[in-house]
Amino acid sequence: MGHRTVASAALGFERTYGRAPDGVWSAPGRVNLIGEHTDYNEGFVLPFAIQHRTAVAAGLSTGHAVRARSTFSEEPASAEIRAIARGTVTGWGAYVLGVAWALTGQRGAYLTPAGTSVPGPSDPAPEPGRPRLPEGVDLFIDSDVPVGAGLSSSAALECAVACALDELWCLGHERTALALAGQRAENEVVGAPTGIMDQFASMLGREGAAVFLDCRSQSAELVPFGLGEAGLELVVIDTREHHAHATSGYAARRASCELAARLAGVRALRDLGTDDLPVLAHLADEETYRRARHIVTENARVLESVEALRVAGPAAVGPLLTESHRSMRDDFEITTPALDLAVQASLGAGALGARMTGGGFGGAAIALVPLDAVARLQDQVLGAFASSGFNTPRISTVTPTDGARRDR
Ligand code: GLA
Repeated sequence: MGHRTVASAALGFERTYGRAPDGVWSAPGRVNLIGEHTDYNEGFVLPFAIQHRTAVAAGLSTGHAVRARSTFSEEPASAEIRAIARGTVTGWGAYVLGVAWALTGQRGAYLTPAGTSVPGPSDPAPEPGRPRLPEGVDLFIDSDVPVGAGLSSSAALECAVACALDELWCLGHERTALALAGQRAENEVVGAPTGIMDQFASMLGREGAAVFLDCRSQSAELVPFGLGEAGLELVVIDTREHHAHATSGYAARRASCELAARLAGVRALRDLGTDDLPVLAHLADEETYRRARHIVTENARVLESVEALRVAGPAAVGPLLTESHRSMRDDFEITTPALDLAVQASLGAGALGARMTGGGFGGAAIALVPLDAVARLQDQVLGAFASSGFNTPRISTVTPTDGARRDR
């Protein structure tokens, strides 16, 4: 997968800018195995990077602008770094320019890992003897991460761009800092109040492993998730119902969680355990209580899943996936009838567990399936969707792969 997009990004760069790129970087989309909407509650998540990648061919240029083109849109994206702010850029370009903005501290100077800044060419008065770094960058992007399918095409784009700019601008950031720059771009330039899961998965993913992330300490551990050895496949059922976090109920769910934490007198719902739920039931209205119950039980399920993977292997997480879906359907209310059908039909066809993945309100479901049941699952899911009158879903399999990297 990755090789084709890398070659196509490099070729696109040469055709667009009339020279070879200085390098090509790529970053993957992700599937979240379990731990949904727990990231912004400072809880636990267990995503993994998938084989679909976004590749960015990049080269320094003269001037102060970041210019980007892509294979997926006719529209170019371009801005002087100092002019980038929320609302000034829209569409796919906001993810790209937002990362440039997040890495330059909005001043045309570069943020170093220590948080100090190195003057850029737009800095009016660099200290004598300090280098002025070139600022202008040309980018060309290709991607095979499906858009709007809950597989985090946005994080793949942000992380690939962050790696490219970090290296071209000689910033030397850690991977976690680059992941956070991606999140800042999304929160403050794109305007979507998302958490840190997607960017951390895209940056830290490894072949054959899931990324167990504590979203409070931001520390990550790799947990073995070898599907092949266990005779399993992870099937993705993209319902093709497109979602948009910025405009959907994502922000409303986040607000409910913050309200519940305030009522319980804790910093974040991460601080509550299942034993605290009866007390919360008295403090919160029924809906807020159910929202919080999803988060509290979901955090417990992530911890159980990590334990199950370590002790018993991938098959053991099946029932936890299905419980997670039930909680998102009944308590958090972020599933759709098509997602519920995908889960139900998968279980009927012999999946060990299934759940929607990602932000919800559309997008994709995942199912953990024994190899010999994959064809049956495909037939039964397609059949169930056809008889319910939903869009024909796109069914594929994903495997845990390596995170963001330089390819050329
Ligand atoms: C989206 C966000 C993530 C996370 C998930 C839900 O993917 O980008 O930060 O909140 O939804 O788990």
